[in-house]
Amino acid sequence: MGNYFPIVSASSTVERRRSRRRPGGTSVTSTELHLPGGTWPLGDLSVMRFGYGAMQLAGPGVLGPPADRDGALEVLRSAVASGITHIDTAEAYGPRVVNELIREALHPYPDDLVIATKVGGRRDAQGGWPSARRPDEIRQQVEDNLQTLGVDTLDLVHLRLGDAAGPVPERIGEAFETLVDLQQQGVVRHLGVSNATAEQVAEAQSIAPIVSVQNMYNLAVRHDDPLVDRLAAEGVAYIPFFPLGGFSPLQSDALSAVARRLGSTPMSVALAWLLHRSPNILLIPGTSSVAHLHQNIAGAALELSRDDLAELDTIAGPLR
Ligand SMILES: NC(=O)c1ccc[n+]([C@@H]2O[C@H](COP(=O)([O-])OP(=O)(O)OC[C@H]3O[C@@H](n4cnc5c(N)ncnc54)[C@H](OP(=O)(O)O)[C@@H]3O)[C@@H](O)[C@H]2O)c1
Repeated sequence: MGNYFPIVSASSTVERRRSRRRPGGTSVTSTELHLPGGTWPLGDLSVMRFGYGAMQLAGPGVLGPPADRDGALEVLRSAVASGITHIDTAEAYGPRVVNELIREALHPYPDDLVIATKVGGRRDAQGGWPSARRPDEIRQQVEDNLQTLGVDTLDLVHLRLGDAAGPVPERIGEAFETLVDLQQQGVVRHLGVSNATAEQVAEAQSIAPIVSVQNMYNLAVRHDDPLVDRLAAEGVAYIPFFPLGGFSPLQSDALSAVARRLGSTPMSVALAWLLHRSPNILLIPGTSSVAHLHQNIAGAALELSRDDLAELDTIAGPLR
């Protein structure tokens, strides 16, 4: 697992930003297509629960441009054409590369498209993901995201916490308060936290409302089970990163057995399980392939029985 933080750019204030909304207030929606899982509210916005994580569109190590640039643009366009209204990104992916691909593929953005990004870190010369959470660094990263995505307001910004090994118990106040300040200025619409402990989620909520938490979670990694349930009761979205295992695809005998029984694939079962797990879970599986994108959309619609769910529950083991 990596420490996925945006780079701090030396660029100055953007002189002219393009709005994500079309002039004249024309409503341009992606589609009214049905996607598995239905919708979930993110504050005053609404997204399809089946979304798309764009990190895989950068080059190897999430650095530099993709080998197949046209293919990457096609994945983004296919996602929106399929009805996806939630794309997850970060200035750190590339860095800049993924945000710029999103802009090239999709700007001017459909009115119903929510682009969620992250701040709290940067990339170093070795491709590492050091944290960058001083107020000036947070402000610069928000500015960089605005510029590369070509928008006046960021729909949703997650404060990415912790380090490469996972969440770290530390106070988040100053960094989060900086984002709240930017929200009050109107450049950030909604706030979330990522790679956070339950205590950090609560600390953020004591400062300002959040609409989402983005943490590592999948069939095999379920430390956040109580947090998922608490957030569901509060109407806050839980957005699992690495839903398919990330850089190490999920592998488990029980998963393979359920997939075989249903004539499906482990990837499809893993996504369908997340949609069954809780209504506040939003999917952002990553792929650099249009074929995989379509497989994942179809696969997530899989119906799982009580027996299937019980068998899948054994994967994470008693120590969650
Ligand atoms: N907040 C954070 O700290 C954080 C950290 C990591 C990730 N994220 C976000 O979470 C999103 C999801 O995570 P992720 O993309 O790293 O991992 P993931 O969704 O768990 O898995 C992506 C991997 O699965 C493969 N894959 C996808 N669909 C497939 C299919 N149908 N058949 C076979 N292989 C398939 C992809 O390869 P192909 O390209 O070949 O399809 C890719 O290697 C990211 O895109 C990013 O937006 C956030």
